[in-house]
Amino acid sequence: MKKHWWKESVIYQIYPRSFKDSNGDGIGDIPGIISKLDYLKELGIDVVWLSPVYKSPNDDNGYDISDYQNIMDDFGTMKDWELLLKEMHDRGLKLIMDLVVNHSSDEHHWFMESKRSKDNPYRDYYIWRPGKDGKEPNNWKSTFSGSAWQYDENTEEYYLHIFSKKQPDLNWENPKLRQEVYDMMRFWLDKGIDGFRMDVINFISKVDGLPDAPNPEGKKYVSGSRYFMNGPRIHDYLQEMHREALADYDVMTVGEMPGVNVEQAKLYTDESRNEVNMVFQFEHVDLDSGPGGKWDLKPLQLTDLKKNFTKWQMGLEDIGWNSLYLNNHDQPRMVSRFGNDKQYRVESAKMLATFLHMLKGTPYVYQGEEIGMTNVRFDSIDDYKDIETLNMYDEKVNQQGEVPAKVMESIYVKGRDNARTPFQWDDSEHGGFTTGTPWIQVNPNYPQINARQAVADENSIYHYYRKLIQLRKEQQIIVHGRYDILLPEDENIYVYTRTLGSQKLLVILNFTGEEQSFTLPADLQDKKSDVLVSNYEPAPEYVSSIPLRQYEAIVYLLEL
Ligand code: NOJ
Repeated sequence: MKKHWWKESVIYQIYPRSFKDSNGDGIGDIPGIISKLDYLKELGIDVVWLSPVYKSPNDDNGYDISDYQNIMDDFGTMKDWELLLKEMHDRGLKLIMDLVVNHSSDEHHWFMESKRSKDNPYRDYYIWRPGKDGKEPNNWKSTFSGSAWQYDENTEEYYLHIFSKKQPDLNWENPKLRQEVYDMMRFWLDKGIDGFRMDVINFISKVDGLPDAPNPEGKKYVSGSRYFMNGPRIHDYLQEMHREALADYDVMTVGEMPGVNVEQAKLYTDESRNEVNMVFQFEHVDLDSGPGGKWDLKPLQLTDLKKNFTKWQMGLEDIGWNSLYLNNHDQPRMVSRFGNDKQYRVESAKMLATFLHMLKGTPYVYQGEEIGMTNVRFDSIDDYKDIETLNMYDEKVNQQGEVPAKVMESIYVKGRDNARTPFQWDDSEHGGFTTGTPWIQVNPNYPQINARQAVADENSIYHYYRKLIQLRKEQQIIVHGRYDILLPEDENIYVYTRTLGSQKLLVILNFTGEEQSFTLPADLQDKKSDVLVSNYEPAPEYVSSIPLRQYEAIVYLLEL
């Protein structure tokens, strides 16, 4: 496999609205990010992925873009952004931008034109259809509840929106639209950015005819995802995008791809095909969902997690590349979800970090993960801001009559606002995020959990992340070693190895709040071993039966 900078990097995601406010309006902004670049440099990360900062009416916090080539007023100006890029590059940090081109905002001038008349030159930039029997063109459900179609009285047709009705889907069948997107990408590439994270990029090709989805239970609307995930022309579009926009630049790309499987991911990330460098797959963050989907809570089985990661690690061993994440702005906080955010918050956050950072692939750290920020429980639905959460609550409670307390419980576990509460910088009011009133409340645990405390405490989660990130730079085996799993059937501990040449990493992780033990396999006994990293002091000795404390993580480097 070829070497690339993005294989050796650790990427930090910034959700700008919630990172750092510099002007007291309660909304994070670009000058705020600039003021924290030294913090990021100290952490050791190489690349920042910046969630959207473009002009937007913020129906979906910037994932609804009304002007792809300007900066949202709340976040600053193009000058601020240019300074951000310069300050990052001066520090040796790279910047990748979010590319949201499955849909735009309904306030984008393309859409404003498109809805004017059926013969407007922009009409075909979007997906318009006449109704069927006085109803929507098909039975697809929007990801954010209700129909995926919105009726427009002016031209008496419906437009498709897989997300909110303010996020109309762009029509990738139209070559003019595609060229507009590539031009826009080159605008940012020419400014010197280092790559793109591509929002739901495997949704851009829809199956011809946009058929009804099977609906055995006779529901009003059902998911149509089988007709737009990994659609018929997706590979052509990505290869064209590579040729037209990316090929001349030394940049990285990561495609967000709900519903992608390993076989498809191999095609997307096979270097010889020139599509994307890696994908965000979703299988491991669906393991704790029941048949009813995301809000249908189901306890996670460690064996399922192991099976899944093992499939991806082995599946992309020779062809393609993995991205590694447990957190982002759409997912609950990992320590609350996979660890224990109370008694063992520090231990379990470090264990999960060890798990992820010792795998093969490019690790992503989501803001606040490195200080062990947790999920939040707001008393009232009125304290929540996320459109997905609010629409789901309205549908379930107000339209379907579900018990509010039960719906709130699912929001506490799965809601996206868990990840979107402001970054906790210190123990001053609002966690030092803003001097004004934050757009969403700060998690009340900020006096205990904050960056100032974490930086000052050498045993903190933050310093542990620094160590993990540093190790990746020192040990080629972490980047390139082959993955193998031991004890695939064990429900309590996850043990895997990475092998490169005459070295082996042995990664031992206790995923429980109880003591466990691990018996070394015969072929690994009596090896010369060093502890590379561990989350308890002192680390256990390398003996034939290794006792494990609650959420203990140990990585041994063995000479074979
Ligand atoms: C995925 C993004 O990560 C999410 O935040 C957004 O709501 C949807 N795509 C729509 O853009």
